[in-house]
Amino acid sequence: MNLSEFELFAIKTSKEAGLILSSYFGKVDILDTKSTQVDLLTEADLNSEDAIIKSINATYPNHNIITEESDIDNTNSDFCWVIDPLDGTTNFVHKLPIFAVSIALQFKGQTIAAAVYNPMYDQCFHATKNGGAFLNKNPIKTTSCNTLSESLLVTGFPYIHDQRWALSFDLFKDIYSRNHGIRRLGAAALDFCFVAMGRFDAFYEFELKPWDVCAGDLIVREAGGETSDWDGKLPMPSCGKRVLASNGKIHNELIEILTLDKYKIFMI
Ligand code: IPD
Ligand code: CA
Ligand code: CA
Repeated sequence: MNLSEFELFAIKTSKEAGLILSSYFGKVDILDTKSTQVDLLTEADLNSEDAIIKSINATYPNHNIITEESDIDNTNSDFCWVIDPLDGTTNFVHKLPIFAVSIALQFKGQTIAAAVYNPMYDQCFHATKNGGAFLNKNPIKTTSCNTLSESLLVTGFPYIHDQRWALSFDLFKDIYSRNHGIRRLGAAALDFCFVAMGRFDAFYEFELKPWDVCAGDLIVREAGGETSDWDGKLPMPSCGKRVLASNGKIHNELIEILTLDKYKIFMI
């Protein structure tokens, strides 16, 4: 299988969709809300998605597609494109240039190629299975930080404000009190990539979706990092229910905290 062909397609398509997002940036209105009043939808999400779907259908008409804003009638192909046409919609609406297009290709449920593109910085993170991870064609690597106490993390919080959401701030404090800090940037696909490129030593979040995690998961692993469920089990759930991505070196220290009895509600 020629994985670099898929990677190049993902790069090209994410850049085309990124151009569409750029054309809306700074002048977009909220079109609708989704799961809650703070889960926003804009015309940019929809037009970016439309362009990506058209491009996949034109090049790989038999491949399946899972994408955030539409239910697609899929066939029984072994190939499935997993797409977030705009990851970081809240940032986008508020003119914060931290957002991306995320495109992953899975073969029999395993991600084999991925691209995450932020048009504001012209940064394209990309990877293929066993082929390494890159930022604009330059190899990237996770950090060499050995201890949680010297680490900087990134996390995020879901739109649904339930009991787990409330408890996730206790978890935030628990980790924050033991390391250099935790940031909340608002675009999960980029959070993974920032671990991959060595900006952060780890990323954890819960209640994400496949389109938030599939591309970033591969990019982190190909950059030498580790991804898993919160209890360390492999593979990291591609449904996004609980994700932990790190440089590998501080993975176990994080698992010790994430599996504390007081956080068992997250494991259900
Ligand atoms: C969201 C972002 C955010 C994460 C949310 C996601 P969206 O994606 O990735 O960082 O905390 O849970 O839903 O809605 O902007 O595509
Ligand atoms: Ca998303
Ligand atoms: Ca999205």
